Amino acid sequence: MLPGHKVLTAWTNGRRAAVYLLEDDNARKCVLKQYRPGNRAIMVKEILALRCLANLELAPQVLSYELATRTLVLTYVPGERVLEWVLRRYGDRGLDLDRFASTHGLSTNEHVQRAFARFRASTDTQALALREAIVDTYRRLHRVHVLHGDPGPRNIIYDGERAYLIDFDQTRPSFSPARIETRGLKKWYGIDLLAERNEVVGWRV
Ligand SMILES: Nc1ncnc2c1ncn2[C@@H]1O[C@H](COP(=O)(O)OP(=O)(O)O)[C@@H](O)[C@H]1O
Ligand SMILES: [Mg+2]
Repeated sequence: MLPGHKVLTAWTNGRRAAVYLLEDDNARKCVLKQYRPGNRAIMVKEILALRCLANLELAPQVLSYELATRTLVLTYVPGERVLEWVLRRYGDRGLDLDRFASTHGLSTNEHVQRAFARFRASTDTQALALREAIVDTYRRLHRVHVLHGDPGPRNIIYDGERAYLIDFDQTRPSFSPARIETRGLKKWYGIDLLAERNEVVGWRV
């Protein structure tokens, strides 16, 4: 798949790309995102956004890419997806987390919805810390005029301290947080980013 690497996990086999966790001979992990035919423009968009964010430590780094084969190799972001983090703490008792690994339509899954409703209502230190980490990350992202575009709980990884964004398929430049982003943050995490809006109105040289 990638010379000198073996596949540890096949993570998703989505509509736009298949994503694999790879490991090299020195046990170093990386992520390979293989875009499907017709999705090269989306891959380029993701590469440009990640390059632009390279110094901010809020998203993976681009290690390599090949346009001809639509292959993108990224650094591995350690931690847990917000989906599993929330389901483990706020999900129904005895919930099988593996069931949600590749399920689409999270928004309509009643287990997921119940868990996130509990999370949004929670004032536990841990829940507050995660919400604060997400706010901090999106604030830093928007400061450089990049939108993530897909703030669902499969696309945010939490290491217990900071929130990292993955999956920039839907990214675009913007000088104010667009509704697609703020609506998702409100819906999933109860975060009101518009209350913290700092729109840029001009730049003088
Ligand atoms: N750089 C990364 N570090 C850690 N996990 C990742 C990384 N990139 C992707 N993943 C895992 O692979 C899954 C799918 O990747 P993603 O880029 O979101 O693809 P898709 O467009 O199919 O949603 C993520 O939900 C996450 O579990
Ligand atoms: Mg995703």
